[in-house]
Amino acid sequence: MMKRDIFTSGFGVLAATLGSAVGLGNIWKFPALTGLNGGAAFLVIYLLSTLMAGLPVMIAELMLGRRSRSDALTTFRVLHPQRESWGLIGAVGVLSAFLILAFYTEVAGWVFAYVFKSVTGSILSTDPTVTSAAFAKLIADPVQSIFWQFLVIIFVGCIIVAGVSKGIEKTTKRLMPMLFLILVMIGIRSLMLPGAAEGLTFLFRPDFSKVTGAVVLTAMGLAFFKLSVGMGTMITYGSYFTEDQDIPMTALRVMVADLTVSLLAGIAIFPAVFTYGFKPEAGPALLFITIPAVFSQMPFGTIFVVLFFVLGAIASTGAMLSIMEVPVAYLHQRFGLSRFKATAMTVVLLALVGSTAALSNSTLAGFKLFGMTMFDLYDFLTSNLLLPLGGFFLSLFAGWVWGEKKVRSALSNEGTLANRTVVSFFLFQVKYVAPVIIIVILLRGLKLI
Ligand code: TRP
Repeated sequence: MMKRDIFTSGFGVLAATLGSAVGLGNIWKFPALTGLNGGAAFLVIYLLSTLMAGLPVMIAELMLGRRSRSDALTTFRVLHPQRESWGLIGAVGVLSAFLILAFYTEVAGWVFAYVFKSVTGSILSTDPTVTSAAFAKLIADPVQSIFWQFLVIIFVGCIIVAGVSKGIEKTTKRLMPMLFLILVMIGIRSLMLPGAAEGLTFLFRPDFSKVTGAVVLTAMGLAFFKLSVGMGTMITYGSYFTEDQDIPMTALRVMVADLTVSLLAGIAIFPAVFTYGFKPEAGPALLFITIPAVFSQMPFGTIFVVLFFVLGAIASTGAMLSIMEVPVAYLHQRFGLSRFKATAMTVVLLALVGSTAALSNSTLAGFKLFGMTMFDLYDFLTSNLLLPLGGFFLSLFAGWVWGEKKVRSALSNEGTLANRTVVSFFLFQVKYVAPVIIIVILLRGLKLI
């Protein structure tokens, strides 16, 4: 067997795992969805789904991956050879990786473009009609859309090729501290604005009138998306954890840190939105239309716009690394392809799938399935369907199929950690709480019950 390239230190594990969790989910999805769905009410439901469904699934994935030391698909074959069909979780996971990356690399492409365009000043204006025209122009231009997306894909591919410790770990170790620094700076600046109180009220005072079954499903989908669970990313990263890493504690830390980033992003965005009279319901455009306009109005605003998009570029990089690693690890381990070949194949395939998302606002704008463009379809299909389903089956596998004794020894590092209570609590969550919650929210959200 090949010697596996794994994460080398506790800090490296944390940086890579947190790097996976923190991403466009925090600064693009979280504020947009919170703004659209009633602010704090959405936040509460999102929090509950994170604790009751996202976190247990995350621990389960990391545990299974470390035990099997295998990619998202092979893991099930190694841990439970009696029944091949569990491998479907991994197979769907690899498919999901491409679907998520297809739209994710496009949004990341816009972020990278905005770093560049905010430095040159071409997207800066205090007038929201000007900033929305600038954004519309970017996304409606097929050449630019494809250019920035491919640039991002190749950039991430270059880091992946360098390997798990020398590529992923090394990069995220440098990027994560920078990310926190920038975010705190922007947050402080935003809190000094006159609209700060109004922004914070919106974020922290619940209004449950907007909450429907579909909204609850969206909140749960966000919980999975945020923690990068439900499709094997955490299985793959778990397979790179050292044997002495405390998995439940790592997962908890990542969850808390990730939530902090989302809240800081909300604290950075909403006060500014209210101060300058924008609407929090701008949705996905919030980041690209509102932010440049809002921040341009502040003294030294340009610096903050640049910083904001640099933050986005950093955050999205760590996340994309973890998603791309799923198919690369699979091709590498299962078919014995070199890392270079595995990455090259993934990059080419991704460019093909991804371009259908990139062209969703231009060439392919009229091509819709179920009333959605490819971009929206990939997002909806993964967050609201495939991730929750993956999470459901993962919790069943970890809680019921793999066996309680194995779970106990895996999570206590063969009894060397004094965490009996934590593990018992996890077992309860993964056996009963997570699967029930997931399936009820899923069926209800899709109006099947
Ligand atoms: N968690 C990342 C974010 O919020 C995105 C992400 C990375 C992801 N890996 C994933 C989402 C795996 C779903 C599955 O931006």
